Amino acid sequence: MKVIASYNIKGGVGKTTTAVNLAWLAASQGKRTLLWDLDPQGAAGYCLRVKGKGHGKRLLKGKSDAGDVIQNTNYVDLDLLPSDFSYRNADVLLHEEKYPLKRLQKVIKPLKHDYDIIILDCPPGLTLLSEAVFRASDALLVPTLPSILSLRSLKMLLEFRKEKSLKDLQLFAFLNMVDRRKKLHNDVLNSRLRMKSWMLEGYIPYVSELEQIAERREPVFVYAPGGRAAEGYRELWNEINEWLGLTLGS
Ligand SMILES: Nc1ncnc2c1ncn2[C@@H]1O[C@H](COP(=O)(O)OP(=O)(O)OP(=O)(O)O)[C@@H](O)[C@H]1O
Ligand SMILES: [Mg+2]
Repeated sequence: MKVIASYNIKGGVGKTTTAVNLAWLAASQGKRTLLWDLDPQGAAGYCLRVKGKGHGKRLLKGKSDAGDVIQNTNYVDLDLLPSDFSYRNADVLLHEEKYPLKRLQKVIKPLKHDYDIIILDCPPGLTLLSEAVFRASDALLVPTLPSILSLRSLKMLLEFRKEKSLKDLQLFAFLNMVDRRKKLHNDVLNSRLRMKSWMLEGYIPYVSELEQIAERREPVFVYAPGGRAAEGYRELWNEINEWLGLTLGS
């Protein structure tokens, strides 16, 4: 089982959209997939038409098992561990624990034989919850806008990973909402940044079909399977799969 977190310090960069679509893609390829919505906004659950039943606090405190809270989605091999509003206090709840950074790991551990992939949809920020996510994950997938501030946040994250000696935590960044009509976007696409080992080659263009995801409440593959977003996500997933293949069994 591998745990991949859709994460960025910044908000509104496409973490949830990415988590929902890649979780669907993994499941469509026969991987038993769980999407854990860690954001009190509950957007991942909303996009998949699954409503939480308010077990967040109990789960984070170790008083409920993930297995009792997980819900089916409309899609084969794709389950959801829904969020609820108690996740807004996740940092406080974790802080009360003896080993806060190990809490998410502990929730996930019993699911080891039930799923091939767990995708975490994270809220923005660099908080105690984020650190617990880093501990629980094999890889961070970081949607990054081709903007100065977004690239700055990515740099901060890379520095944080180094500072905390999280060298086993694989990091995959990719460019999202790319608009080839904009000079800055083209400059970033053609820059040295794209040669970095942690930057995926695939990128997701700015497309209206992804803006529609919360309206359609379905993964983009369901309503626009031949579109540019679906194509971009397939490319990203192929790259991630290569890494999964290399690390299989570890
Ligand atoms: N490539 C894209 N093209 C166009 N719109 C996009 C794209 N990716 C995401 N969006 C839209 O951008 C908005 C923000 O996306 P999303 O909710 O996935 O970001 P987020 O990082 O999860 O936000 P938050 O930090 O609030 O959790 C949504 O309306 C989504 O539909
Ligand atoms: Mg989100």
